[in-house]
This record gives sequence, C-alpha cells and structure tokens, in this order.
Amino acid sequence: MAAKVPESADVDALRAAAATCTACDLHRDATRTVFGDGPEKASLLVVGEQPGDREDRDGQPFVGPAGHLLDRGFDEAGIERHDIYLTNAVKHFKFRLPERGKRRIHQKPNRSEVLACQPWLLAEIRAVRPKLVLCLGATAAQSLLGASFRLTAHRGELLDAPENLDLPIGVMATTHPSAVLRAPDRDEAYAAFLDDLVAAAKALGAD
Ligand code: URA
Repeated sequence: MAAKVPESADVDALRAAAATCTACDLHRDATRTVFGDGPEKASLLVVGEQPGDREDRDGQPFVGPAGHLLDRGFDEAGIERHDIYLTNAVKHFKFRLPERGKRRIHQKPNRSEVLACQPWLLAEIRAVRPKLVLCLGATAAQSLLGASFRLTAHRGELLDAPENLDLPIGVMATTHPSAVLRAPDRDEAYAAFLDDLVAAAKALGAD
C-alpha cells in the first residue's frame, strides 16, 4: 500500500501519520517508525540512509555512533546543531539476525523500499523548507536525485533541488558517516567528509 501522506501537513502531523505506515514490509520487524527530528524551520535538512539499531530502540535519528561522528563534523565545520533537521531516506530499521548471537545486523534498503518511503522525505522537505538538503551516502542521494546519481562523481557539489520538489533550495551529497567509521584510513575519510561539511556551511552562509 502506498504511503498515506497528509497534504500540506506540518512535521508533527507527518510524524503522527508515518507512525502507522505500512507502505513496505520493513514495518513488520522494526520496533517503530523513526521519523525526522529537529526545528521545523531549520536551514539545513540532513538525510541519512535509515535508522540503525540504536535509533530503532530510541526512536530518534542519528543517536548512535554515526550520529556522534556527524555531531563532531558539524561542530568542526561551524554548522549550528540547533539549525539542523535530521531524517532518513527510509524510516524503518532493516536488519537480519545472525544464526548465532542476538546483535541485529544492518541491511541496506532496496530501491523499492526507498521509493515506498520517498513521499515522507519529500513531504518533510516541503514542510521544513530548508536552505540546503545534505544527503549522507548513496541511498539518501539517490532517493532525491535519482538512481543514476553517482556520489563519487558529485560529492560536495552544490546542486539544484530535483524538479519534483519544485523548491528553490540547494542539494549536496557527501559520504555517510558510517562509511567514514568503517574506512581503512579513517583520518583521511574524515578529512574528506569534513571538507564536504565545510562546503555545506559555505552554501548555507551564501545568499
Ligand atoms: N545511520 C543513518 O543513516 N541514519 C541514522 O539515523 C543512524 C545511522
């Protein structure tokens, strides 16, 4: 069943409606919908892939290790935390259980799950009307910019919002902080990530 997104809704109304979303099968195993969070009129809207284990338990985006790295990056790039709305391309945690052990293992959402959740993301962007949308990783970037978007070719570039949003706002994509945490050379990956956040800070400051 398609996502039942209320028209012209504010973020609270969207969050309430998304709590019972069954537009894809991920709601069956996840604990809850983890909707976006932050000031309704934030200048920067940040899109991750999907909630992780910790976010699924707490009900808030980016409260685990990737979120901590993101906080450090925002701080070092001079982006004010109180001016950021955080959300995800997919709002349920997708995981598998290992044969032994209980730790839930993250699984990447597929294209149909991303598309099923996309109406919520577009509605959040319309409700917040940020100056800039920053996509973290290929899943978030491809949800907004299309499946042919290549992060490696366009990271850190200031792009126009896609036509289906019909808003005069910028879009930028960078790597996902979890990829920085997993990188063989973490310092180098973090430095490149920070460069992109500095570019985002500049785009936010420009008029
Ligand atoms: N990774 C994401 O993409 N989103 C979260 O909320 C947490 C980790």
